Amino acid sequence: MSTIYSPRTTKSNGPQGICPGRYTCLSWMPRFETQKSPMAFYHIRQYQNRDYKRVLDLFISGMEEHIPATFRHMLTLPRTHLLLLGVLLAVVLVSGSWLLAAMSIFFVLLLLKLLARQPWKEYVAKCLHTDMADITKSYMNACGSFWVAKSGGEVVGIVGCLPVKDPPLGRKQLELFHLSVSSQHRGQGIAKALIRTVLQFARDQGYSDVVLETSVLQQGAEALYVSMGFRRTGQYFMSVFWKFVDILTIQLKHPLPSA
Ligand SMILES: CC(C)(COP(=O)(O)OP(=O)(O)OC[C@H]1O[C@@H](n2cnc3c(N)ncnc32)[C@H](O)[C@@H]1OP(=O)(O)O)[C@@H](O)C(=O)NCCC(=O)NCCS
Repeated sequence: MSTIYSPRTTKSNGPQGICPGRYTCLSWMPRFETQKSPMAFYHIRQYQNRDYKRVLDLFISGMEEHIPATFRHMLTLPRTHLLLLGVLLAVVLVSGSWLLAAMSIFFVLLLLKLLARQPWKEYVAKCLHTDMADITKSYMNACGSFWVAKSGGEVVGIVGCLPVKDPPLGRKQLELFHLSVSSQHRGQGIAKALIRTVLQFARDQGYSDVVLETSVLQQGAEALYVSMGFRRTGQYFMSVFWKFVDILTIQLKHPLPSA
């Protein structure tokens, strides 16, 4: 059973000087989506400061769970095969010892495993020093919003959104950030409900598109976005490091027909 309370959109006295000039800040009375089923019972509400610690936990664990997949991805790269072969041959030729060669391979694999953590740890650290340092200031007071999904009194899902500062000419775009659902509550439609909340917010605020970025490694997330009407619009490497580990950032867009 699903109960959805309609949104109300009213003009607000939004924070002066914080919103980008071309946007009108509207206070958005949130749509609280409550889902009851034998599988799931949760509701979605706007972020409150007391959620902060749990939100960070979900954000960090949601990103760091991709470290093993990154390592496995690195093991499939031809440059990794060349490196391992090169180390093996070099050690055997220099030392004549296959045991030393095997140990060297083990250490190279260990190094690669540490390296696989790097892009995710770097991304998390960057966010913790920027938008995730103060969610109320970065999202709620900046013409965006941030929601949590609660189940059994606990925050089990998160998502945020902010206006895009320099959208293409004639477009008004909202960017979705930090979608994450606790591993114990997956497959119950919570992420879909959080995405629907962002889409509804965007429609109510007159945005023409909702955009987002994710990585090729997050295949579950991409499948989810595509199933909800997002389409791939581009791809790029976020940094030299991501290029080194051959992980593309992909850009997705959901046009909103009413705009
Ligand atoms: C991606 C994520 C948010 C999905 O949360 P969820 O609550 O389990 O998702 P929902 O139950 O709402 O939707 C499930 C849908 O997602 C897709 N999906 C989720 N995981 C998938 C996977 N491993 N492979 C393929 N599709 C997957 C499917 O389309 C599925 O639809 P279906 O139920 O009709 O088959 C969750 O796995 C997560 O938090 N991952 C870690 C953080 C992350 O990568 N976030 C994305 C940031 S861009």
